[in-house]
Amino acid sequence: MSVKDRDPLTGHQTTGHEWDGITELNTRVPRAVWIAIIVTHLWALAIWILLPAWPLVSSYTGGLLGLDQQDEVEAEILRAGLARGDWLSAIDQLPVAEIRADPELAARVAATAPALFGDNCAACHGAQATGGPGFPSLVDEAWLWGGDAEAVMETLRVGINAGHPDTRYAQMLAFGRDGILSRGEIRSVTGYVQSLSGAEIAPDTRAAGSAIFADNCASCHGAEGRGNTDIGAPDLTDAFWIHGGDATSIYRTIRDGRQGLMPAWEDRLSRTDRKMLTVYLQQLAGEGAP
Ligand code: HEC
Ligand code: HEC
Repeated sequence: MSVKDRDPLTGHQTTGHEWDGITELNTRVPRAVWIAIIVTHLWALAIWILLPAWPLVSSYTGGLLGLDQQDEVEAEILRAGLARGDWLSAIDQLPVAEIRADPELAARVAATAPALFGDNCAACHGAQATGGPGFPSLVDEAWLWGGDAEAVMETLRVGINAGHPDTRYAQMLAFGRDGILSRGEIRSVTGYVQSLSGAEIAPDTRAAGSAIFADNCASCHGAEGRGNTDIGAPDLTDAFWIHGGDATSIYRTIRDGRQGLMPAWEDRLSRTDRKMLTVYLQQLAGEGAP
């Protein structure tokens, strides 16, 4: 078959290829396809010239427009870091009262500290910092070591009965187990402790308990049982209890002693984080905060 053969139906030349009587038409590539190919190639060429495109050995062709999204991302990260750095360093430097008074800083703390508290403190003190048996509420007005910002910051830094060299020691003695008081004496002084927060008890129990209290307890809890924040001895006259205020719990506290363990956070949380937590606790406590 000659190359010059024409298809009788379309008038196109054939390629000269033929399979079992079927011949292949030599149709031309449509103009639209040529145009598309040319336009896309020109577009690619323009992009190569204008934008960063070709990798070189240690860099890449930068493009005439000088656009670089990596630069933009880096600039944005830098701006975000600066903005964060600004408020973090403000928190680092300002006293707690001023942080609470500054609406923007207070809002930053309110947004950041719950996660910090949730990760580090909620397991013991509860999600809302209201405490539980053995773990004090951090949002009431009863404080073992003082509730002003400085005292709380120090408690966080060194912990209570913790491994820190400066840790606060809280030692409620085991008066029963160590044989200092008899069972009867513990019962009387338990009654006396209950009477301090308003419970009605028999006058002779109260009198016996009062004398035992003066001899054994007043040195730490104070003559009137109001506690002492220098040594972490709780106020026994209020309605707030760490280890329980019913007769059985108080009896156990006096018989077996209590040594709550609060970890030291100096090595685990930055000073700024500890300060944020202090501000946060005051925010949770609301207007009643010291
Ligand atoms: C392993 C449990 C545990 C964890 C975790 C813990 N605490 Fe405590 N915390 C305690 C105990 C127990 C006490 C009371 C110690 C005592 O009875 O003498 C306490 C006491 C405190 C006090 C002193 C309260 C007062 O009345 O003076 C503050 C403030 C405090 N915790 C804050 C925090 C913060 C903030 C965190 C998180 C960074 C935290 N705690 C994590 C167990 C814990
Ligand atoms: C050496 C000082 C010291 C002496 C003495 C002492 N206490 Fe305590 N007491 C503490 C401390 C510290 C705590 C807090 C323990 C803790 O939670 O870690 C405490 C806790 C308690 C509690 C628990 C309060 C609560 O909120 O659950 C009771 C009740 C109590 N003491 C009664 C007594 C009685 C009664 C005596 C005398 C028989 C006595 N204490 C003697 C230091 C003392």
